Amino acid sequence: MIYTITLNPSIDYIVEVPGLQWGGLNRMNRDLKLPGGKGINVSRMLIRLGTDNTALGFVGGFTGRHIEEFLRAESLKTDFVHIAGETRINIKLKHGEETEINGQGPNITPAERENLLHKLSGLQKEDIVVLSGSVPPSLGGDFYDRIIKVCREAGAEFVIDTTGEPLMRALAHQPLLVKPNHHELSELFGVSLESRDRIVTYGRKLLELGAKHVLVSMAGDGAFLITPDTAFYANVPPGILRNSVGAGDSMIAGFLGRLALGGDLLESFRTGVASGSATALSDDLAGEEQIRELLPQVNLVPWL
Ligand SMILES: Nc1ncnc2c1ncn2[C@@H]1O[C@H](COP(=O)(O)OP(=O)(O)OP(=O)(O)O)[C@@H](O)[C@H]1O
Ligand SMILES: [Mg+2]
Repeated sequence: MIYTITLNPSIDYIVEVPGLQWGGLNRMNRDLKLPGGKGINVSRMLIRLGTDNTALGFVGGFTGRHIEEFLRAESLKTDFVHIAGETRINIKLKHGEETEINGQGPNITPAERENLLHKLSGLQKEDIVVLSGSVPPSLGGDFYDRIIKVCREAGAEFVIDTTGEPLMRALAHQPLLVKPNHHELSELFGVSLESRDRIVTYGRKLLELGAKHVLVSMAGDGAFLITPDTAFYANVPPGILRNSVGAGDSMIAGFLGRLALGGDLLESFRTGVASGSATALSDDLAGEEQIRELLPQVNLVPWL
């Protein structure tokens, strides 16, 4: 089973107000309430790709209940820790440009935190745990380290999509996959990555430090799959960017979903890129049909 973990989920309240007047009464054209959070995005995308999985994390209050109902309606399994605090609402105001106002998220008590670790105590060798996003301060800076320890003791694999020190520390425990974007990669090593050769060089360092598979995404500029002795560059299909939220998460789900179904590396990479791009070109996460349409437009070329 694949498990995703979302520590600080949200309801993303997307409100369209063309011609917004600050300080005046505005009426919305359209609004949409979507569950947000990187792990939840990976879960929703995996389901679309036919890969069964369970979403874990912390939810609370009426907002938390809404997320659970929404995900169950999409046939996604959930096993969240129910907390006393209330899941946050992030406001995405579309008024020609997009203005975002993100909630901080609830405080999580030590007992609630231990409860999540307890849910992982039944992990098995064939399981994969996906850790996405940053760790809220109330969980302590070593929370991912603790989860990784539980995974490794059970012999389960993990995927980690975070930044900075927690990502660096995770590498030594052989994550199945890491997928920094080029900005995150440059920040991780404190270097500027002005050429693609340098992106590949530093991507390969992630392998040397322990990662089993490395993808580096570069938004609309394509992506790399980096292996110990070669690398493959993928273009992204052309199209108008509609929504960059969840593109990286969709890429992880595409790659992992294909790999979990027995796909080879290049096939998994191609599915990852097509899934990321399909989401970038859609309002919400992409559907399976959109991904299938883009697949033939993704070309992989060896980067020597
Ligand atoms: N403008 C775009 N056009 C086409 N495809 C895109 C675009 N932006 C992103 N993608 C697709 O999504 C993948 C991941 O995008 P990106 O590099 O932005 O990830 P990220 O920064 O991790 O995103 P996230 O905000 O989800 O964390 C890219 O490799 C590409 O396939
Ligand atoms: Mg990302």
